[in-house]
Amino acid sequence: MKILVIGGGGREHAICRALKSSPRVKKLYCAPGNGGIAQIAECPPVMATDIEGVTRFALGNNIDYVVVAPDDPLALGMVDALESAGIRAFGPRQNAAIIESSKVFSKNLMEKYGIPTARWASFTDAGDAIRYIREHGAPIVVKADGLALGKGVVVAEDVSAAEDAVRSMMLDKKFGASGARVVIEEFMTGPEVTVLAFTDGKTLMPMLSSQDHKRAYDGDRGPNTGGMGAFAPSPLYTPEIAATCMETIFMPTADALRAEGRPFKGVLYFGLMLTPSGPRVVEYNARFGDPEAQAVLPLLDTELLDIMEAVTDGRLSEIDIRWKPGAACCVVMASGGYPGEYEKGKIITGLDSLPPDITVYHAGTRCSDGAFYTNGGRVLGVTASGAALGDAVDRAYSGVRRITWDGAHYRTDIGRA
Ligand code: AMP
Ligand code: GLY
Repeated sequence: MKILVIGGGGREHAICRALKSSPRVKKLYCAPGNGGIAQIAECPPVMATDIEGVTRFALGNNIDYVVVAPDDPLALGMVDALESAGIRAFGPRQNAAIIESSKVFSKNLMEKYGIPTARWASFTDAGDAIRYIREHGAPIVVKADGLALGKGVVVAEDVSAAEDAVRSMMLDKKFGASGARVVIEEFMTGPEVTVLAFTDGKTLMPMLSSQDHKRAYDGDRGPNTGGMGAFAPSPLYTPEIAATCMETIFMPTADALRAEGRPFKGVLYFGLMLTPSGPRVVEYNARFGDPEAQAVLPLLDTELLDIMEAVTDGRLSEIDIRWKPGAACCVVMASGGYPGEYEKGKIITGLDSLPPDITVYHAGTRCSDGAFYTNGGRVLGVTASGAALGDAVDRAYSGVRRITWDGAHYRTDIGRA
């Protein structure tokens, strides 16, 4: 088969590696890919959001199957467009991907079907939103309705910070149209766990649980990022909690989407908070998490391609998904300054002297004359497995310490916090 993966980050590198292990994959492409992905896949210069360009490329190159990994092409309807052109594709259609691209949609869905989540209200008028905040007090959470690169959520410790968030989203249009509506939520407490699940719309199979670390600095301090590292499985996610989630959150979500005429085929991402009153949904995504995928996929012991095709064909119930024992840890190495402003083009050293039990997923790199240069905020995801989480963590950091570039920074407590 000829396969095309859409996207160009660490998650896509992990997906490409997992697909490449299938003997059925004869040729792998990744658009636009990155320097690391280019070592295992051909990377045509087509943007991940360029629906026409991707469709044209897939038709012109006789692609058998397209895997759409990032949120924005899913929200824009890339899977629908590919299917209309007669090309099979992995990922939800636009009418199901809305579970990520509109928080108002997902909150309404949870309310209608009794899925546990934070109490909420939505607003299209900044004055109304501010009155609501004053009435309810802080801490309180303000969220832009639409996609905002993972940065559209403000957990406000006091009323004035919440009001500022409303003003910057609704009046200053910090996230453009994504902030024209806001959701204001009750502040919940408890540890957070991610569960990714394959679903074909009817059958749903959770993957191993994972945890990511969203804050930039050790001890969960500093600004939010796209994710500074992840590990799997989460020791907090007990079999009892898993059973509760399956019964009260996962199946009800898949069933609700089907009942609404929006069957979800692909990977559903459940961002969960384990609150004192039980697990509740913090957010849904319509895709693999990044960097959760880099920690979960190395533990998958069934061909990813077989699972994906079963999802697309609606026969997931026939598949047995196996996991390797042990744990995996992915430490993200970022450019100096990230998540604020950073420079690109720094030469990366140490990549060629790593032991074989360390896998480096490239997130923002460029390859030129055999050397790798930084080309994004999150640059690498250094990943290792081990019999226990501690072994995976130690091994991943032994890799991190060998790699460097001017300004490189990383958290030293991934898997330990
Ligand atoms: P989200 O992008 O919706 O996952 O939100 C980003 C982060 O904000 C989450 O991972 C939580 O740490 C935090 N957060 C979001 N909603 C709430 C809430 N209702 N209560 C407490 N923290 C929240
Ligand atoms: N790691 C969070 C996300 O992928 O949205």
